[in-house]
Amino acid sequence: MCSHEFVGAIESGLKDVAELVAVEAAGLVRKAWDDMQAGRSVRVDTKTSDTDVVTAIDHESEQLIRDRLAELRPGEPVLGEEGGGAAGDGVTWVVDPIDGTVNFLYGFPWFAVSVAAQVDGVSVAGAVVEPVTGRRWTAVRGGGAWADGKPVRVSAPERLDLALVSTGFAYRAERRIRQARLIAGLLERVRDIRRPGSASLDLCSVAAGWVDGYVEHGLKRWDWAAGALVATEAGAVVSLPGEDPALGSDGTFAAAPSIAAPLREALIDSGIGDL
Ligand code: IPD
Ligand code: CA
Ligand code: CA
Repeated sequence: MCSHEFVGAIESGLKDVAELVAVEAAGLVRKAWDDMQAGRSVRVDTKTSDTDVVTAIDHESEQLIRDRLAELRPGEPVLGEEGGGAAGDGVTWVVDPIDGTVNFLYGFPWFAVSVAAQVDGVSVAGAVVEPVTGRRWTAVRGGGAWADGKPVRVSAPERLDLALVSTGFAYRAERRIRQARLIAGLLERVRDIRRPGSASLDLCSVAAGWVDGYVEHGLKRWDWAAGALVATEAGAVVSLPGEDPALGSDGTFAAAPSIAAPLREALIDSGIGDL
């Protein structure tokens, strides 16, 4: 086995672990979802603002993932949205226990469990699992991206004005106003805009060609760690927060290569640098 294949095998093993724990956590979230659909209430707290919510199920999902990673990958640090943590020297696991909590709370069936393995801050393997459909998005750096084990590939729109672009908004009102101005500037240049409500799934949607591009500011590492790898491995042009200063200090961007340059230009024209 050459060294490249060896690295690939390790990363593939990390992908299997990410998928396994994400599927287990998605099972827990799915059960809670079914209970909520049957009328059972769930405890809800707020975080950075009254609209930034966390449920008891977010905490339970993250705890399950932490417990399983401690068994399967003992000693490796975990950075999770609800429990915090810090990166280590080798593999760090980056976890969003429910990405799309507002959707989950409202009964809008578009949210996911996201688990990625990062080395030196770079995602090398990841899984995004949808509790409601059971769909599993997975990726290995340099190895590909899959939905339920089948390879996924970005779209190839011919023109920006025919491109469907998704986005998201921050929880803080003052930032939303600037984000809304940016999207208003973009609306006349693209086919349409979507705001589905789960950043990891927005990135997977670019991977599958369900949308042609995605842009959002203010994402945290756990929002993008797995989904951005899925998008990259499916052929998308991806910039992570801080990588492209012209897209603002913390912009996340993913697009089909055929419209990536004109979309980036349109965003710059619409004032993205001020975000
Ligand atoms: C949020 C979702 C949303 C995005 C927000 C994220 P959460 O994650 O991904 O789509 O617009 O920026 O914070 O809070 O549901 O884990
Ligand atoms: Ca999130
Ligand atoms: Ca979350």
